[in-house]
Amino acid sequence: MKTKIVLLGPPGSGKGTQGEKLSQELGFVRLSTGDMLREAVRNGTPLGLKANEYMRNGGLVPNDLIISLMKEKIASLGEGVGIIFDGFPRTVEQADALGDGIDVDLALNLDVDDSELVNRLTKRRTCPNCNAVYHIDYNPPKKNGICDKCGSELYQRDDDKEETVLNRLRVYRENTMPLIEYYGRKGTLATVKGVGSIDEIFGMVRKTVL
Ligand code: AP5
Repeated sequence: MKTKIVLLGPPGSGKGTQGEKLSQELGFVRLSTGDMLREAVRNGTPLGLKANEYMRNGGLVPNDLIISLMKEKIASLGEGVGIIFDGFPRTVEQADALGDGIDVDLALNLDVDDSELVNRLTKRRTCPNCNAVYHIDYNPPKKNGICDKCGSELYQRDDDKEETVLNRLRVYRENTMPLIEYYGRKGTLATVKGVGSIDEIFGMVRKTVL
């Protein structure tokens, strides 16, 4: 079975949504750099203070900060643990750093058009406590504005405002899209169309992983 899985795809393609379902089904650890960075920002740590200025306008946090954060996390998990990488790597430099120590079995690319991405992100609501994500039309919480899983009040991420979303898509095309070719050359790339219901997409993701 594939045990080191990288989720690729533009902002809003469903990496968090599908990654969480996969992690529950397989018992793998999901490492989301976005969740880690948002927690660091909330806690006002030195990393959070540095990362905040890049995240607010949809830019990438510098490679050296992200690479050392992830190396530390990976080392803390020990050998033989299944890992789903969500939001990392995002540049060729990060992919090289990951490859230096981890054999990626599968890079799963979720393919979604820009117009759908903007709609998904601007209507996303996120739980600040357990990081669950909802969409106000497609995947609403049972009680308006409240997380089904932990009861916390949901919020809209600062970087989910339309202008910032458009910048994130530009940054994705410039810096992260080249990873599709990168993993294609290594023979570990699989692309799944990320459009349809969350469960339909998960069916395809599951088939690709197992
Ligand atoms: P990060 O949190 O990783 O953001 P992202 O990659 O832009 O991805 P998102 O979390 O926005 O989207 P997603 O693909 O997970 O989609 P989701 O499942 O939520 O990063 C944030 C920032 O941190 C970056 O901009 C950068 O500054 C920094 N950063 C992070 N990692 C970094 C790195 N490695 N290097 C440098 N900087 C880094 O779904 C989106 C919405 O759609 C939800 O509302 C969901 O309910 C809905 N939805 C999901 N699936 C469907 C479906 N099938 N149909 C309808 N709606 C759906």
